[in-house]
Amino acid sequence: MCGLGVVPAGYGEQTLKILGAHTCVGFDISANALKEATELAKVARVECTFVKSDAQRLPDEYANIFDIVLITAGALCFIPDIDRYFSQARKILKCGGQLFIFESHPVLKMFDMDRDRDGVAVLRNDYFTEEPQCHKTGLDYYTHQTHDALPIYYFHHKLSDIVNAAIKANLTLRVMEELSFDPSLAFGFDAFGDTRPPMGLVLIFST
Ligand SMILES: C[S@@+](CC[C@H](N)C(=O)[O-])C[C@H]1O[C@@H](n2cnc3c(N)ncnc32)[C@H](O)[C@@H]1O
Repeated sequence: MCGLGVVPAGYGEQTLKILGAHTCVGFDISANALKEATELAKVARVECTFVKSDAQRLPDEYANIFDIVLITAGALCFIPDIDRYFSQARKILKCGGQLFIFESHPVLKMFDMDRDRDGVAVLRNDYFTEEPQCHKTGLDYYTHQTHDALPIYYFHHKLSDIVNAAIKANLTLRVMEELSFDPSLAFGFDAFGDTRPPMGLVLIFST
């Protein structure tokens, strides 16, 4: 039997369910996000369970039951305490389980999108900042149009913060790949012209 936990919920668990995973559980802190995930699962005709939970404090009943934990695009930037987050991902993994991360590369946090120039990336932010960024606009990830939204805070974690959080959780790095596209689609394929920074990140850890 193959179990799967996804933090936070979204397309990832549904894709893996279609690929053959047995029991799929998606965790998310937002009731609205869970409602949308439930609707998507219905449309895709895949059976997933969705659980409302802060990924930094997952319920103990899910301890040691998953073969795979998947963290997908646009997850880590919402987490203030990634040491705690990785300890929870480790908690829900079985012995021999694996943690897959498919995320935007932390280097992208150095760039803002120039909305007046069709989403072109502008180098603006300090990679080493520890201050959360407050955004008051929402983004349509496909059209790249923005709209007014409630303030939202992004937490910047350096690549070393991410790997060190996993090491502290007793996870072992098995695979690392840097990608030439942004898995969150926040930055489009043309955002950087010919001088692309690393835009995406794949990390695989084992227990
Ligand atoms: C950009 S979405 C990514 C969703 C998913 N990765 C996907 O590909 O569809 C970020 C999600 O993180 C959730 N989130 C933010 N903080 C969280 C937390 N502390 N615990 C669990 N989920 C959280 C939000 O509610 C939102 O649904």
